[in-house]
Amino acid sequence: MKINVMTLFPEIFESYLGESMMKKAIENKILDVSLYNIRDFSENKHKKVDDYPFGGGAGMVMTPQPIYSTYKQILKENNLENIRVVYLSPKGKTFNQEMAKSLAKEDNLVFLCGHYEGIDQRVIDMIVTDEVSIGDYVLTGGELPALVMIDSISRLIPGVLNRTESYEDESFENDLLEYPQYTRPRNFEGLEVPEVILSGNHGKVAEWRLRQSEILTEKRRPDMWEVYSSRKLEEEKLKKRKKRKKKK
Ligand code: ADE
Repeated sequence: MKINVMTLFPEIFESYLGESMMKKAIENKILDVSLYNIRDFSENKHKKVDDYPFGGGAGMVMTPQPIYSTYKQILKENNLENIRVVYLSPKGKTFNQEMAKSLAKEDNLVFLCGHYEGIDQRVIDMIVTDEVSIGDYVLTGGELPALVMIDSISRLIPGVLNRTESYEDESFENDLLEYPQYTRPRNFEGLEVPEVILSGNHGKVAEWRLRQSEILTEKRRPDMWEVYSSRKLEEEKLKKRKKRKKKK
């Protein structure tokens, strides 16, 4: 996957992408990230990228020209006529695991990071395909949200994690939060690992984990619990219907 980032602060990305899983994915050529400094594309003699908002108001607005020129350059360098452009903004659709999965299927993506009070709406209308927020709070810029998205999307690309099982059991799969995990030592400061985990009985372990996931989800995420429990109910009804049919 090729990820192109449009930002005024490319250095923010360098440190995060230079560590751990991201670094490995890039080294193994599973992921390729190109950083574009929007300021480099400003046609203003002082390389200005923002201006006062028409109609008044607090703060500065990013001007359309440098952003549009950066976008054109990305198209040119990737030999593309159009590309999916994600604009990070608190006004966007809220990011979730389903969106991460859908974006992980793309070969080429652009992340547009805004700063100041926002971006001139005309360039958003011209190039943005997805306006995305990472949650109901306001940050100073789109760089952290872009990194959050890049991280969660990349780990879904085959080959980035070691085993497919690594994410089959985790939170948000099957509308459940993940069960608690334990490792050595068996006794830590007087706290024992739950007996069933040590039993070696895979069926019992799976049953216990599912129950823990259910308890946690019901307590913490009533929104997810509603989806999960109605799905489970439907599945049980279907099973009963099939059983009755067999008997006949
Ligand atoms: N920019 C500022 N706040 C943001 C948020 N919550 N999500 C995405 N982009 C943002």
